[in-house]
Amino acid sequence: MNEAQIQYGYIEKAKQIISEKAREKGGSLTCCVQTFGCQMNARDSEKLSGILRAVGFEEIEDEDADLVIYNTCTVRDNANQRVYGRLGVLNGFKRRNPHMKICLCGCMMQEPSVIEKIRKSYGFVDLIFGTHNIFKFAELLVGMYESEGMLIDIWKDTDQIVEQLPVQRKYPFKSGINIMFGCNNFCSYCIVPYVRGRERSRKPEEIIEEIKSLAADGVVEIMLLGQNVNSYGKNLENPISFAELLKQVEQIEGIERIRFMTSHPKDLSDELIQVMKNSEKICRHLHLPLQSGSTKILKEMNRRYTKEQYLALAEKIRREIPDISITTDIIVGFPGETYEDVQETIDVVKKVHYDNAFTFQYSKRTGTPAAAMENQVCKEEVTRHFDELLAVVQDTAREQAKKLQGQTLDALVEEINEHDDSLVTGRLSNNMIVHFKGGKELIGKIVPVYLRECKGFYYLGDMQ
Ligand code: 5AD
Ligand code: SF4
Repeated sequence: MNEAQIQYGYIEKAKQIISEKAREKGGSLTCCVQTFGCQMNARDSEKLSGILRAVGFEEIEDEDADLVIYNTCTVRDNANQRVYGRLGVLNGFKRRNPHMKICLCGCMMQEPSVIEKIRKSYGFVDLIFGTHNIFKFAELLVGMYESEGMLIDIWKDTDQIVEQLPVQRKYPFKSGINIMFGCNNFCSYCIVPYVRGRERSRKPEEIIEEIKSLAADGVVEIMLLGQNVNSYGKNLENPISFAELLKQVEQIEGIERIRFMTSHPKDLSDELIQVMKNSEKICRHLHLPLQSGSTKILKEMNRRYTKEQYLALAEKIRREIPDISITTDIIVGFPGETYEDVQETIDVVKKVHYDNAFTFQYSKRTGTPAAAMENQVCKEEVTRHFDELLAVVQDTAREQAKKLQGQTLDALVEEINEHDDSLVTGRLSNNMIVHFKGGKELIGKIVPVYLRECKGFYYLGDMQ
């Protein structure tokens, strides 16, 4: 029996337990899955929802449910603090509903200090597991219901990639697909390599199979997910490049749009740029984290490129694919960063004309090399630098956005507008949002939209 078959056995077992509990309750058991963090976590949460529904839970938005699971992130400390804060609220729900189960999983749980704290101060939590054994969720559920007290199962690492378990997609028409797990880069500020483990690529045949079945199920847009997709396939038995994988994915009928996340600048090949340039399906969007524009800080960060190399790369991409939108991540306040270093970053922002940039204040992560550096920057200085950078980022993003005004471009309709139900919300190939008149029959369709008016970071348009 392979691991997936074993887990299907546990799904059957869990189903019996849940239906017994539902009988006692006199109605179906409810569950709520909350996701913190990145696209990888969002995809993992779809796997959690898939299992929970398969064993008989009704999924709801409200955290006052019979089972709540937090899929946590630990990339910055504020995500951790939010989890602790919200656990207090869950405890209140649990006092009123003693049968309630509280589960925690994801990156934060891979940190021993977190587990210690939860054991000590949050004894009402029922189940804790990490990033490497999420495929055992059904088994862990059975274990939780069959035992008393807190069940903890954290693995340090794994080489297992378990496929073909149930998944509940958030959107019927678009989906993320993991193409690799983990990261080998060890940027000095980043905790990801410690909590997600070493880089492991999935076999291309398995990825293609999964995408084909998604296409057959009505998915038109896919996002290939990995911490560093540009190094995809290098360690496979039969090595293959990311660009080569993209070419294969393009052949799949029914898939209209292909996105991917995230690219490390040091590994972005000319081959990839050419494949993107010649593709009808690969979206006009590249997320290319800069982190810092100062060569000195980049070196300390272990990013393995210089300011000049990054600028040359961005320029080449804009030259080859003029309609591409480039977005980025930037950290302010890395140890030793001076005002002059921040000016270097601002210089890059101005030169690259980012279409959007996610700016973060440096957060000290225990166990990373940067956490042990002595020249930590004080909070006030970080805030001042951050605000200065943010203003520039917003200016360039606004300028970039305006450029599309008057064009007609394809948009994939994602949902009814949150504030006005006579409008739908669509996404352009370059990842910008446009709102226009339309109804729910358009959801999941790709339609041409005239971009009438730029509202800063989004458009108002008219379907053509
Ligand atoms: N502090 C602040 N931001 C961080 N990131 C990763 N680690 C840290 C940290 N310790 C940011 C990086 C990365 C994004 C996902 O999160 O910019 O690209
Ligand atoms: Fe973290 Fe760097 Fe890996 Fe991205 S590439 S996950 S920033 S270590």
